[in-house]
Amino acid sequence: MKQTSDKPIYVTQPSLAPLAEFNEYLQRVWDSGIMTHNGPLMQQLEKEVSAYEGVGDTVCVANGTCAMQLAIRALDLEGEIITTPFSFIATANIIKWERCTPVFVDVDADTWNIDPDRVERAITDKTVAILPVHVFSAPCDVRRIAQIADRHGLKVIYDAAHAMCVKAHGKSIMSYGDVACTSFHATKLFNTCEGGACFTEDAALAARLRRMRFFGFDERKEIVDDGMNAKMTEVAAGLGLANLKHLDEVRRTRREKYELYQCLLGGLDYITFQKFDPEEYNYSYMPVLIDPERFGCDTGELERRLQGHNVYGRRYFYPLLSDTAPLAGDPRGDGLTHARRIAERVFCLPLYHTLSRDDVERICGMIVESGRDA
Ligand SMILES: Cc1ncc(COP(=O)(O)O)c(C=O)c1O
Repeated sequence: MKQTSDKPIYVTQPSLAPLAEFNEYLQRVWDSGIMTHNGPLMQQLEKEVSAYEGVGDTVCVANGTCAMQLAIRALDLEGEIITTPFSFIATANIIKWERCTPVFVDVDADTWNIDPDRVERAITDKTVAILPVHVFSAPCDVRRIAQIADRHGLKVIYDAAHAMCVKAHGKSIMSYGDVACTSFHATKLFNTCEGGACFTEDAALAARLRRMRFFGFDERKEIVDDGMNAKMTEVAAGLGLANLKHLDEVRRTRREKYELYQCLLGGLDYITFQKFDPEEYNYSYMPVLIDPERFGCDTGELERRLQGHNVYGRRYFYPLLSDTAPLAGDPRGDGLTHARRIAERVFCLPLYHTLSRDDVERICGMIVESGRDA
């Protein structure tokens, strides 16, 4: 077995700008005395992220979960929302939290994203929206989803938590749907520690989202709408402004390591990679599927074996959302066959900006030997 790591190697580490660059923004916060509440750094971040992504409007919020919560509220949704069972829990529990009903349909076997045919078959007179996820940043079939939504008069909210810097059909993935919601959590490719954003091309909707994130106040400080506190702080925005300058570099180095994993593991008959266009992916995760019969053990056992070497991969995303206690329900006659197979086999290997090529080689060696020993 390859040498055990001295330092724990986690599935991810935050990508952070040099501290001196962040300090310049902190100095501005200290000078202005403005800590939050539509502050100048947050406004600058909204402009810079809109320009970076090439979208009409960016509404920064406290985290990715409340981005989706605000989107559901701002679109006045009440009823069934069709979504994927293969995602992080926030995707579906926020639907339920907003008193709508998540309806789970199967995913595509290769892209692992929601299958548009299944979406269309699950529509009833109670359906109000589709909430697909660009899982691990691979774009959904955005054109077909838009056609289906138009045909049935449905809203589309994308959970784009993983998908900063991704394009589909030549434009930002954030420009598809009524609203695309992302996360700027510390584990994401681009982070503000905690944070997130709603993207939209609809100026009136952006204005409503801004009111709703600030208790329902308008620009004249009159309470005109429903609202909550979903504001992004100036400290978070300053970190975002510092990190944004390094985002292309972060994506580039992650891609190199992703490709090294692909090269070292690609010949193994028990490993499958997600299918995506290499230019339409941000390399924020390193998910593989492991065939337990060919490999000799399942992903739970692989996780334990790697932990024995101080390497902490994760079973993202297992179990299926539809199998969790709060969300178990009617998957609309859909056996979720592909989603179940993927969730049982998926394993995210460590991938982050500062992970060394040597570490990638050692981790791949551990996997190969683990398969041999099984
Ligand atoms: C697919 C997906 N959706 C939503 C979220 C929630 O984002 P946040 O942690 O910023 O609330 C996450 C977070 O990891 C996620 O992976």
